[in-house]
Amino acid sequence: MTRHLITSALPYINGVKHLGNLIGSMLPSDLYARYLRARGEEVLFICATDEHGTPAELAAREAGLDVAEFCKEQHEVQARLGEAFSLSFDYFGRSSSSQNRELTQHFGNKLLENGFIEERVTKQVFSIDDDRFLPDRYVEGTCPHCGYEKARGDQCESCTRLLDPTDLLEPRSAISGSANLEVRESKHLFLLQSKLSDEIRAWVNEHADWPVLVSSIALKWLDEGLHDRGITRDLKWGVPVGREGMEDKVYYVWFDAPIEYIAATWEWADEDADNRDWKSWWYEAEDVNYTQFMAKDNIPFHTVTFPGTQLASREPWKMVDYIKGFNWLNYYGGKFSTSQKRGIFMSDAIEMLPADYWRYYLLANAPENSDTSFTWESFSGAVNKDLADTLGNFVNRILKFCSSKFGTELPAGGTPTAREDALIKSLAERIETYNTHMDELQIRKAMQELRAIWVMGNEYLTEAAPWTEFKTDPDAAAVSLRCAINLIRVFAILSAPVIPNASRQISEALNLGLTGEEWISQPIEVELTTLKPGHKFTVPDVLFRKISDEEVAEWQERFGGGESQ
Ligand code: 2FM
Ligand code: ZN
Repeated sequence: MTRHLITSALPYINGVKHLGNLIGSMLPSDLYARYLRARGEEVLFICATDEHGTPAELAAREAGLDVAEFCKEQHEVQARLGEAFSLSFDYFGRSSSSQNRELTQHFGNKLLENGFIEERVTKQVFSIDDDRFLPDRYVEGTCPHCGYEKARGDQCESCTRLLDPTDLLEPRSAISGSANLEVRESKHLFLLQSKLSDEIRAWVNEHADWPVLVSSIALKWLDEGLHDRGITRDLKWGVPVGREGMEDKVYYVWFDAPIEYIAATWEWADEDADNRDWKSWWYEAEDVNYTQFMAKDNIPFHTVTFPGTQLASREPWKMVDYIKGFNWLNYYGGKFSTSQKRGIFMSDAIEMLPADYWRYYLLANAPENSDTSFTWESFSGAVNKDLADTLGNFVNRILKFCSSKFGTELPAGGTPTAREDALIKSLAERIETYNTHMDELQIRKAMQELRAIWVMGNEYLTEAAPWTEFKTDPDAAAVSLRCAINLIRVFAILSAPVIPNASRQISEALNLGLTGEEWISQPIEVELTTLKPGHKFTVPDVLFRKISDEEVAEWQERFGGGESQ
């Protein structure tokens, strides 16, 4: 039987992630992991914090902490937020782990051994006052082409020309502002990607089923020609290269980060070494189906660079089978921005409303085919209409009515009619469509179908109208209520990967004992008679509250939204 390995792109350690990061990989991968588990599949769902690189060092410095301490703290923060959003990672690791150090060095050594890495001497800017080499983008100065005074050493933001740090006029350190700079020579490892180009292309071409977004970015990179890339840096924080003469160097963060997918699996296994085997998921793992989730800026590293590393090792590492890539979620048409405090961060969001509200809205509006915009208006619209009115109200209204007229158990009496038969038939069709969309990772379409299923329940209820039926024909009302309460069960199961907490609340109210490992796949199971007369239930609290216009206005003010851009 196939085992499913699922990874989410690793959130960078330098701060709490915003909703764009959440819907760009972590949340959709959680949806998929939950869906597959519910279908009885064996799933391993891995994520971790990506902890190396200059931005981590600088963020630590700003926080006044040693970088290792900073990363430890931030890892905890991100792990807690992941739990708060009900992200069901089997393991949430750290790229600074000893396992990742070992594997990254292993890959580095293999690639060198196989002739895909060579040493080269490069010239680099050294900041004497900062006592460190400066990565290109941390050298600032005046653009020689357009005169922009804050051009970065890799590119001028104003005229977009690509630059070398040595092109800049009046260069200075972006870290300290010091102009006390000099160019020094430094020895580095280069990955000879040009040698791997044909192999990588052949591998990409084997995956005709990838989304266009993913394959087009991969092929664009390949068509433009792969350049040899420096994969080491003169930094203290990172995976040490561990070779003689390179004592002060670490691997470049983008070299070790994807290796952490493997290393985090190893970390997971180390927690229960008697029962878990990380290698079986990654090495000669023919029975594993591997799906990765990421935003579009990560695609080149997952379709070209990391696969190149895996291929060049000449070892049978598990390579990705399917990549689900995402466009950007914007905030009112503009970018989410940490520095400008624009947009919504996971820590703010979870204090405002429970996870399920965000999960549903973000998944229903996932930026699959183009960039999409978060607006408070569309958020409150979806919550109020879909979650509160369509789903929540359906559940509360039926259970309340039933308990007031028949008591807190499913009523007996009556026999189903053509109306119930018709409902079962169209429900079965819709569930099949929903399953197909989920299998194909068409997330927005799946969410549309789920919403349509909730709507169908409401339409049935409007037609059956047990409240009026009850007055003239209590048996007929009993049939409608039994059917409707069985529908609630179906909703709880089908909605669980999206809104796991509301689903659990419903499961508890209906005494379903759902474990997250049940699904409705076969039309036969759609029969709305699973819960029999006499089955006890309780009336749950309101499942979803509505968002008021005043709250929308307040949140726009607080988060800097409202003004369209
Ligand atoms: O883009 C990012 O935020 C990176 N931290 C993603 C890394 S994904 C993987 F390769 F580690
Ligand atoms: Zn310029």
